Amino acid sequence: MNTIKSYIDANKNRFLSELVELLKIPSISADSAYKEDVLKTAEAIKESLHKAGCDHVEICETPGYPIVFGEKIIDENLPTVLVYGHYDVQPPDPLDLWDSPPFEPVIKPTDIHPEGAIFARGSCDDKGQMYMHVKAMEYMTETGQLPCNVKFMIEGEEEVGSESLAWFVPRNKEKLANDVILISDTGMIANDIPSITTGLRGLSYVEVEVTGPNRDLHSGLYGGAVANPINVLTKMIASLHDENNHITIPGFYDKVEVLSKEERAEMAKAPFSLEAYKDALDIEAVYGEEGYTTNERNSIRPTLDVNGIWGGYIGEGAKTVIASKAYAKISMRLVPNQDWEEITQLFQTHFESIAPKGVRVKVNPHHGGQGYVTPIDSIGYQAASKAYEETFGKVPIPQRSGGSIPIVSLFEQELESKTILMGFGLNSDAIHSPNEHFGVWNYLKGIETIPWFYKHFTELKSK
Ligand code: BES
Ligand code: MN
Ligand code: MN
Repeated sequence: MNTIKSYIDANKNRFLSELVELLKIPSISADSAYKEDVLKTAEAIKESLHKAGCDHVEICETPGYPIVFGEKIIDENLPTVLVYGHYDVQPPDPLDLWDSPPFEPVIKPTDIHPEGAIFARGSCDDKGQMYMHVKAMEYMTETGQLPCNVKFMIEGEEEVGSESLAWFVPRNKEKLANDVILISDTGMIANDIPSITTGLRGLSYVEVEVTGPNRDLHSGLYGGAVANPINVLTKMIASLHDENNHITIPGFYDKVEVLSKEERAEMAKAPFSLEAYKDALDIEAVYGEEGYTTNERNSIRPTLDVNGIWGGYIGEGAKTVIASKAYAKISMRLVPNQDWEEITQLFQTHFESIAPKGVRVKVNPHHGGQGYVTPIDSIGYQAASKAYEETFGKVPIPQRSGGSIPIVSLFEQELESKTILMGFGLNSDAIHSPNEHFGVWNYLKGIETIPWFYKHFTELKSK
């Protein structure tokens, strides 16, 4: 299959320009003003799947944004790979921090991307990574090298919680039946240190509201004599961690999986430079739960973070006021075995219980999802590992990620198959941030590696 390299060489410019076209459509699922663009993106993906050789392509309606489905079944007796990805993107704001407009893609060199990177919202998360699969499919069908059946399921609500996909999957089990699920929506350690993601964290996302007096008050006339919702909220939030940065919610750690010494030692073998990590973020010191390393803190341990906090006067100058209400958005990243609904309940009960007299507290749960771990002795993982070995010349390192793709645990539950997370992005690609980008080298490496997965998976499966 050494012709994949020559196929890429011959088609590289087209692969890039097609992705650039896709990135121009602002498919922001969180903002209803972009509804037409989200729908237009679904149409564009459908068209691309058809061109890549799918025999059957379809836009599947849901209560929300549609799911693009495509398939090529060459022989019922052969294994089936189901590719999942998302065509929606995060909102691009703050716009003024972008060096070039988020939906006008440009290719520019960076310090670590000698062949340049494509700068645009969604370039890495996830249009660029999803499109690698479309182009790998094109290669396999064009050159008659597709070794098994393929299905594509590309959704448009990942960035807002995948509600419609959670509705769609249980209703379409037959249509989605597969032997393995393949996703590129994560990252790897570095271009010369390939890794495969073996775990994702779960998530519980809540919004809290603290109400004090029935109206905003003069802070001189009333200050000190009534509970100030902002003072109270910040104190309550501060109490959610103790002096060792453990989370204080009763029962929060009860189901947390404890890794053995051996497993932690294995994890610690992954190359990591604390100095480079601090430099990249311009911080003097790292911070986190006592007793754990940075890589443990951001993967095998659960966390609680305020994502936004507001209330009171934030305009120009000063206004002496005690606000009636204060708000915060809080996310908890969970590890396998922690149940997100249970944790949400524990949070709610605890947060309400620590509210002092004089305020009312409301907890509004948003979305959530379970974490996921994939065993490295599965055929799917072995096939992926061999694929990386073919194209990187190195055995990839298994690594748990701190991010979440909540729908993955539902796939396992409903479709009873394992998910393999072959991500080709880098942590420095700025996903969800201004100046998101995806290395040209990474994009092409992904296209090169994917067909090897199909080959090895089909071979291992037939043994
Ligand atoms: N692709 C990311 C998740 C990701 C990125 C996992 C990098 C591992 C490494 C996905 O699009 C995402 O942003 N997920 C959200 C959760 C979702 C419910 C909004 C997240 O992790 O915050
Ligand atoms: Mn994503
Ligand atoms: Mn994302």
